[in-house]
Amino acid sequence: MSFWRKKEHHTAGQVDFDRLPRHIAIIMDGNGRWAKQRGLPRSAGHKVGAETFRTIANYCKKIGVEYLTVYAFSTENWKRPADEVNTIMTLLKKYLLEAIDTMERDQKGLEFLGDLSAVTPELQELIAQTHEISKRIHGFQANICLNYGGRNEIVSAAKAFAQDCRDGKCTPEALDEKAFSSYMYTGEMPDPDLIIRPGGEMRLSNFLLWQCAYAEFYSCDTLWPDFKEKDLDQAILAYQNRDRRFGGIK
Ligand code: FPP
Repeated sequence: MSFWRKKEHHTAGQVDFDRLPRHIAIIMDGNGRWAKQRGLPRSAGHKVGAETFRTIANYCKKIGVEYLTVYAFSTENWKRPADEVNTIMTLLKKYLLEAIDTMERDQKGLEFLGDLSAVTPELQELIAQTHEISKRIHGFQANICLNYGGRNEIVSAAKAFAQDCRDGKCTPEALDEKAFSSYMYTGEMPDPDLIIRPGGEMRLSNFLLWQCAYAEFYSCDTLWPDFKEKDLDQAILAYQNRDRRFGGIK
């Protein structure tokens, strides 16, 4: 086993709930393989994956993680078969309808990040409704990345900044990292502290490229539909055992 593949999910100890990551990002990978292992269509993996998202979002809120950002659909995922794309969009619609009814009661904010102009007007309308409700919610927020690509996000931010310069709202000299961050879909949110990739791959796959500059990366072999609260605990524990230096020395 190489250094980079060392298995951290056997890390001993207890999660320190006073030292949690504020923001966790997850690449929800392995739905297709989970379904294949069971002789089921890929859509079955996405359905269970959506349930896993509910479980993990509830758990994050319960323990005090403030932001959970998940990768649901990339700008490249349109290349998948139409029925798979439809399944994912239908699961998102179902989740949006549920959220509109329950998010205020449960105090769970929900935002969608990505180029939303490409999704159906119906989904756009539901997303706009959850956005309005989210403005009144503080403490926990789930972000679902939809038609999202990290490079695309950076290019969109650069275009928006250039337009603001053209409109006389800012100048190139005034731009710094904090100001540029405000042009990202994540706006004023804190950057992810921890990025988790279930399913065993060790790639970022164009996810939160700007925001994850200093995030700790954690990968585990568990496929997303099998990912449970205890797996999140293991990821948090690994994160808490890392030595975060942000480029400095200790
Ligand atoms: C990657 O696994 C997963 C996706 C491209 C889709 C993820 C979407 C969901 C979990 C449903 C979203 C709904 C809600 C409510 C959040 P893969 O299919 O590429 O897995 P594989 O690598 O095993 O083929």
